[in-house]
Amino acid sequence: MTGRRNNKPRTAPVNRPGLAVAAGAGAAIVVLAGLLMWAMGSGAARRADQLHIGGPFSLVSGEGVTVTDRSFPGKYLLIYFGYSRCADVCPATLNTMAAALGRLGGKAMRVQPLFITIDPQRDTPAVLHHYVGTFSPRLVGLTGAPGALARVEDEYGVASIVHREGGAAKGYALDHSSVVYLMAPDGRFLAPIPASASEMVMVRAIGKYID
Ligand code: NI
Repeated sequence: MTGRRNNKPRTAPVNRPGLAVAAGAGAAIVVLAGLLMWAMGSGAARRADQLHIGGPFSLVSGEGVTVTDRSFPGKYLLIYFGYSRCADVCPATLNTMAAALGRLGGKAMRVQPLFITIDPQRDTPAVLHHYVGTFSPRLVGLTGAPGALARVEDEYGVASIVHREGGAAKGYALDHSSVVYLMAPDGRFLAPIPASASEMVMVRAIGKYID
């Protein structure tokens, strides 16, 4: 059981971590199933705004500045959740995001990429600042108080499960949902982009929403 989960405002008893995690994961799976249906463009696809993705947040950047959902007026937000110790999916996704923005030319300036940590214990602002800078100078890393992070994870249907490694006191990895969220300047959810998308798929997915 982790401190992060301890601090989540779950209805499940906090002394029963399995239930608490399952409750969170259950809600996230419903959201992710909706995202997948929508991304696949099936006949039953729902409108993106019916998925209720997104909402207000107040977090802290790698430079120690408070960042909220209103901090980037007029910008589209490209949001990804992960953690800096992630061995493969997070760095690959952040590389793709950076490369896609590089190909979007002038449109890229209307997009603010954000990386929100799901591992605030290890992703301190300083760690995040260094980490995101290895991908793009435009990428902003965000962490925050446990309650603030729990809220934004719930708003975006983010699921994660802790894996203890070795027996070392702090050795753990996080399996986590991997969706890149494209949000409109007014906060509406526009589209989910699979983290596995290629650079060009991501360019097209973002570009078609921006004039
Ligand atoms: Ni990851």
